[in-house]
Amino acid sequence: MRLILLGPPGAGKGTQAQRLVDRYGIAQLSTGDMLRAAVAAGTEVGLRAKAVMEAGDLVSDDIVVGIIADRVEQDDCQNGFILDGFPRTLAQAEALEQMLAEKSLQLNAVIEMQVDDAALIGRITGRYTCAACGAGYHDRNLQPKVAGICDKCGGADFNRRADDNAETVALRLNAYHEQTAPLLPFYQKKGSLLAVDGMADIDEVSGQIKAVLEAG
Ligand code: AP5
Ligand code: MG
Repeated sequence: MRLILLGPPGAGKGTQAQRLVDRYGIAQLSTGDMLRAAVAAGTEVGLRAKAVMEAGDLVSDDIVVGIIADRVEQDDCQNGFILDGFPRTLAQAEALEQMLAEKSLQLNAVIEMQVDDAALIGRITGRYTCAACGAGYHDRNLQPKVAGICDKCGGADFNRRADDNAETVALRLNAYHEQTAPLLPFYQKKGSLLAVDGMADIDEVSGQIKAVLEAG
C-alpha cells in the first residue's frame, strides 16, 4: 500500500502515520523527521535546512525530492509506504508522479486530513515526542499511560520541536495554504483524494482512515 497523508501542520499526519505503520507494516516516510535528523547530525542537507525550518518556510524541492528518491529505494519500502509531509508543492507532486511511473508503482490513496486552522496552534504547542523512539504525545490530548514514561519504549526523555511555537506555526500555516493546498485539486482531478475529519478524536480519525481505505 502506498499512501499520502496531506494536511496542515498539526493535522495529525505523524500520529496517524504511526498507527498505519502498526496496522499495515509499511514504512513511514516523514520528510520533516528526516530533515530534523539531518539538522541534528549536522549534515550538508541539515545545514541548508535548519534556518528555513526555523523560519517556518519550505525547504527547497530539490533537497526533499532527493531525500524521498533515496528513501523509497530502501528495503523497508518494498511493501509500501506512507508519505507524511511530502509532497508539499506541485513541483514535488510532479516529481513523485515521475518517480513512481519509472518504477511502475501506483499510489493507492491521498488522504486529506481536514482540520480548522484555529485548532492547530493548541495541538502543536502541546506536542512532545519520546527522545528515544519518536513516539508522539500531547500535553492534554495524548498523554503517556504513566506520566513521564513513554508507552512504547519506556524512555523518560522527551523533546519539543524548535518550530513548535505560535509565531512559527502561523508562518507554517501560511506556507501550507499558499504552496500545499493546491495539491488538493491536483489529486482530486486524478481521482485519488479521500477526505477524513481531522477534528475528530485520534481513535475516530484512525477509524475513518481505515474505512475510506477499505471502501476505496
Ligand atoms: P513537518 O515535520 O512535516 O511538520 P508539519 O507538516 O508542519 O506537520 P506537523 O509534524 O507539525 O504535524 P502533524 O500533522 O504530523 O501532526 P501530529 O500528528 O504531530 O515539517 C516541518 C518542516 O520541515 C516544514 O515546516 C518545512 O520547513 C520542512 N519540510 C518537511 N517536509 C517538507 C517538504 N516536503 N518540502 C519542503 N519542506 C519540508 O499532531 C500534532 C499534535 O496534535 C500531537 O501532539 C498529537 O498528539 C495531537 N493530535 C493529533 N491528532 C489529534 C486529534 N485528532 N485530536 C487531538 N489532538 C491530536
Ligand atoms: Mg508530523
